Amino acid sequence: MDTPVEVIQSVKLDDENSALILLDQTLLPNKKVFLKLIEMKDIWDAIYQLKVRGAPAIGIAAAYGVYLGTKQSSADSYDELYHDFLKVKEYLASSRPTAVNLFWALDRMDSRFQKEQGKSVQEVKLALKNESELIRTEDEWVCEAIGEYALALLEPGWGILTHCNAGTIATAKYGTALAPLYLGQARGYDFKVFADETRPLLQGARLTAWELKEAGIDVTLICDNMASIVMKEGKVQAVLVGCDRVAANGDTANKIGTSGVAILAKHYKVPFYVCAPLSTVDLECQTGDDIHIELRPDEEITTKWYSEPMAPVGVGTYNPAFDVTDHDLITGIITESGIAYAPFTESLPEMFQKKRFS
Ligand code: MRU
Repeated sequence: MDTPVEVIQSVKLDDENSALILLDQTLLPNKKVFLKLIEMKDIWDAIYQLKVRGAPAIGIAAAYGVYLGTKQSSADSYDELYHDFLKVKEYLASSRPTAVNLFWALDRMDSRFQKEQGKSVQEVKLALKNESELIRTEDEWVCEAIGEYALALLEPGWGILTHCNAGTIATAKYGTALAPLYLGQARGYDFKVFADETRPLLQGARLTAWELKEAGIDVTLICDNMASIVMKEGKVQAVLVGCDRVAANGDTANKIGTSGVAILAKHYKVPFYVCAPLSTVDLECQTGDDIHIELRPDEEITTKWYSEPMAPVGVGTYNPAFDVTDHDLITGIITESGIAYAPFTESLPEMFQKKRFS
C-alpha cells in the first residue's frame, strides 16, 4: 500500500467556524505563519496580496469568506440576509479577475443560498458553512483524480518541468500539476522536477521548490530563462502546469511565462500538459481573447523582494500576471473526469458530462 505524502493545509476555517485560517504564502519559504482573518477587508486583501493564491485556493478562501461575511450579518429575514450576502459576494469578487475559481465558488455559494429559500437565517448560515466545506473537500478529491490521470501519462525517473506553483498550497490538497508528483513519490517514481523560479513573484522558487523539498521530492530550481537549456539537454520528458482559466477552445491562462514554456516544449517535442479542475474551465469564454488578464503594480518588478530598487526609479513597466497559452501548443488538458485532447471544443464539454463531483 502507498504511504501518502504528508502535506500542509493552507486554507481552512478555525475550530469555532468564525475565522479564516490562511498560511501566509508571501512569507514562504522563510516563515510559516498562519493568519486568522475575520474582517472582509482582510480577506479581500489576503487574496489581492497573494497571501492565499492559486486558482482553487482562491475559490476556497472566497467561499469561506462569503460564509463568514454572511454569518456576521445581523439580518433577521431571508431577504435581508441575501442582500448582505450579495454585498460580500460582490466585494470579494473584485479582489482578482483572472482565476475563474473565485467567481465559480461565489456563484456556487449563491446557488446554495437560493436553494435555502424559505429557511430561517440560522439555517441559511449553516447551509453556507456546509457548502464552503464541501467546496474544500471536493477539491481534495478533484486534485487526487487529476493526479491519477496525470500519473498514468508519466514514467518512473522522468524529468518534469513546472512553472509557478500549482501545488498543495494552491489547492485543498496535493495541487493539480504537482498532484502526480506527490502520488508518484508515494509509489517510488523518483521524478526529477525542474521548478521555474517564476518572476516576478517567485512562486516557483519560494513555493514549488519549498513544498516539493519538504515532501522529499527531487527538485531543481532554475531561472525562467533556463527552461530552454534543460529541454535541449534532454532533461525534461514532460511539462505539467496548472491554470487560472481555460476557454472553450482550450486556450489557457496561467502564470505569466507559461506560454513561453509551451512554445519551447513544442520546439523540443516535449509534451505539454495543463492540469485543470473543471472549476477552472470557463466554457463561456470562447477563446483566450475573452480572458481578463490581471495587471499588477509596477513595484512587483522594480523592487519587490529586494531591499534596494532593481531598476531605475520611475522606469515604465508592464506587469501582466498571466498569459494565454494557445490551445495548439497543449498536448492535453487533464481534468478530474479524464484527459481532454484536441479538438477541445468537443472534448471539454464531454468532461463536464462525465463529471463525478458537484
Ligand atoms: O498569481 P498566482 O500565484 O495566484 O497564480 C497562480 C497560478 O498561475 C497557478 O498556476 C494556477 O492558479 C493553478 S493553481 C492549482
